[in-house]
Amino acid sequence: MPLSPTPNIAIVGATGAVGGELLAILEQRRFPHRELRLLASARSAGTTVAYRGGPLTVHELSADSFRGIDIAFFGAGGEVSRQSAAHALKAGAVVIDKTSAFRMDPDVPLVIPEVNGDILDGFSPPGIIAVPNCSTIIALMAVSPLHKAAGVKRMVVSTYQAASGAGAAAMRELEQQAHDYAAGRPLTQDIFKRPYLFNLFSHDSKIGPDGCNDEETKLVRETRKIWDDDTVTITATCVRVPVLRCHSESINLTFRRPLSEAEARMALAHAPGVRIVDDRAANRFPEPVEAYGKDEVLVGRIRADLSQPLGMGLDLFVSGDQLRKGAALNAVQIAERLMQTANGPNDEASKRRIPART
Ligand SMILES: NC(=O)c1ccc[n+]([C@@H]2O[C@H](COP(=O)([O-])OP(=O)(O)OC[C@H]3O[C@@H](n4cnc5c(N)ncnc54)[C@H](OP(=O)(O)O)[C@@H]3O)[C@@H](O)[C@H]2O)c1
Repeated sequence: MPLSPTPNIAIVGATGAVGGELLAILEQRRFPHRELRLLASARSAGTTVAYRGGPLTVHELSADSFRGIDIAFFGAGGEVSRQSAAHALKAGAVVIDKTSAFRMDPDVPLVIPEVNGDILDGFSPPGIIAVPNCSTIIALMAVSPLHKAAGVKRMVVSTYQAASGAGAAAMRELEQQAHDYAAGRPLTQDIFKRPYLFNLFSHDSKIGPDGCNDEETKLVRETRKIWDDDTVTITATCVRVPVLRCHSESINLTFRRPLSEAEARMALAHAPGVRIVDDRAANRFPEPVEAYGKDEVLVGRIRADLSQPLGMGLDLFVSGDQLRKGAALNAVQIAERLMQTANGPNDEASKRRIPART
């Protein structure tokens, strides 16, 4: 059954950092829908959220939550997705999952619409579509156009990840630490169990027997799946920095075929969802404060890697709003793509879609 041009939508995790951004994006893009059902845990059941000028009530997630739902956006942690996605599928919905629960399942498409959106052609509900990890999306938005041009053989990534990547409570704790510091109080350390203000630390995900943390492993595995290329070698070091929102990444590439800096700039200039910020004279390059609230991933510090044979290596620095393109926006774009495929380019969604915010 094709998707309705005005689907009923559920948002699981509607009160969280990603859920809040998803609501804002549906409103900004005037995403066409009938019912919008907000779901969270018992903690926030009964609270209200502002949407399109009116309050919407949050309901507790249950096995019954998905009756009549066409699209269910999941963003309440992997465990919730593993437990409840089956209920949404049973109700006939498309599950667009922003957690890591199904990303590496060979039967689940892992999608960045600008990079591999064509794998959704022919998709019909019910089914699960996974949104990649935020660091993976931000890196691949910048690197995929170069991969297409010259074939990436090796990628070295170092991340500078914001508090927002760890959810609303982590953002509040960073703000609280700033207040604590200004008031001369000991810093509140409930989430990361360490000073976050004026500090940075290795990413707070679990470290495996190989010494890599989960965030690093996700970046490697997800990139290979999205590019459908097991031969590319990738190494990553993921670090949490005291930035409220937007991840940045330093990326070093080795190509299979030569690609000049000018050719790389050309490829990036034409890449959808990417904006070059690269003013050497003014020393202006991507910064999280500039990426904040933007749909595009900012790319700069574009320069040949002089340690490699000419044209075979490139360095980049990127910043992207991981609550938007790294999660909520990517999920909404998947829904838009499904509706476009099901209903043709003149469907309501594409007529009402507004351009990316810059
Ligand atoms: N933050 C990011 O940048 C980012 C990026 C990509 C993917 N993700 C993934 O998206 C998910 C949500 O992240 P977040 O940053 O939005 O976290 P968050 O701010 O902590 O929000 C968590 C949300 O999940 C809900 N929730 C928690 N336990 C639940 C349960 N048992 N049943 C139903 N709802 C439950 C919470 O509802 P209550 O209000 O009731 O507690 C809240 O709405 C995570 O899996 C995360 O890995 C996050």
